[in-house]
Amino acid sequence: MIVVLMARACNIHSNRDGDLLPAQRSIAMISEMIHTASLVHDDVIDGADMRRGKTTINEVWGERKAILAGDFILSAASTALARIGNTAVVSVLSQVIEDLVRGEFMQLGSKENENERFKHYLEKTFKKTASLIANSCKAVSILVSSDPEVHEIAYQYGRNVGIAFQLVDDVLDFTSCANQLGKPSAADLRLGLATGPVLFACQQFPELHSMIMRRFGSDGDVDRAWRYVLESDGVEQTSFLAQRYCHEATRQISRLQPSPERDALIRLTELVLSRDK
Ligand code: IPE
Ligand code: MG
Ligand code: MG
Repeated sequence: MIVVLMARACNIHSNRDGDLLPAQRSIAMISEMIHTASLVHDDVIDGADMRRGKTTINEVWGERKAILAGDFILSAASTALARIGNTAVVSVLSQVIEDLVRGEFMQLGSKENENERFKHYLEKTFKKTASLIANSCKAVSILVSSDPEVHEIAYQYGRNVGIAFQLVDDVLDFTSCANQLGKPSAADLRLGLATGPVLFACQQFPELHSMIMRRFGSDGDVDRAWRYVLESDGVEQTSFLAQRYCHEATRQISRLQPSPERDALIRLTELVLSRDK
């Protein structure tokens, strides 16, 4: 939906009607396919048994078939991408696949130094989540405009919304329940992951540092870290940071000519912040 709205907003900005070009519609489908494949693979990495309220592929068919199924979706996406026949678009969307893999790799590592840790977290968040939205938005803008400034607006909108989306996701892991989310909640600590709320909490409770370094692996770590996070204002600070990214997304997209689609993209930033699942 984001990519379709961005395509229409860019088309109108370029003094055309809003109607999608066939290649823009393909890009929206390809990004959805890359997204789906990344979730199929992610559920293997995270050992998750539920996604969107349904049993995951790895749970039903096993990990080997889930990995191959994800690969198959990516191969279909690659074929569709080649069919568009635009080398700039191919390179922008290939970057997404590289970033997804690098992001998941970054998440497997931890940083000793606290300042580096936050930087590492935001870079990981960009690669794992925001790159897909940023580069898909950029790809549809390339097809209708040759102005690099329009490409940059599309990219920056996607980048900022994407980072905000993941920050909110990391908050919901602490504040929502599995029934509401349709996927496991309270999962990140158990996976050894120190997300935004924990990193902010660590500034108030330095005891968290050693737990983060051992990826909450000792007996009682997960429960203790959980309590520290809820006693701290880590959740509020992470939500506040998400708000700042959404403001920046709005600022960027406001540089396009007015259109109903542009305004929908602005309202969408509010939905990202207020969602509870
Ligand atoms: C989601 O990552 C998958 C990607 C963005 C590649 P997470 O592990 O953080 O998210 P959920 O909680 O499984 O949806
Ligand atoms: Mg996961
Ligand atoms: Mg994951």
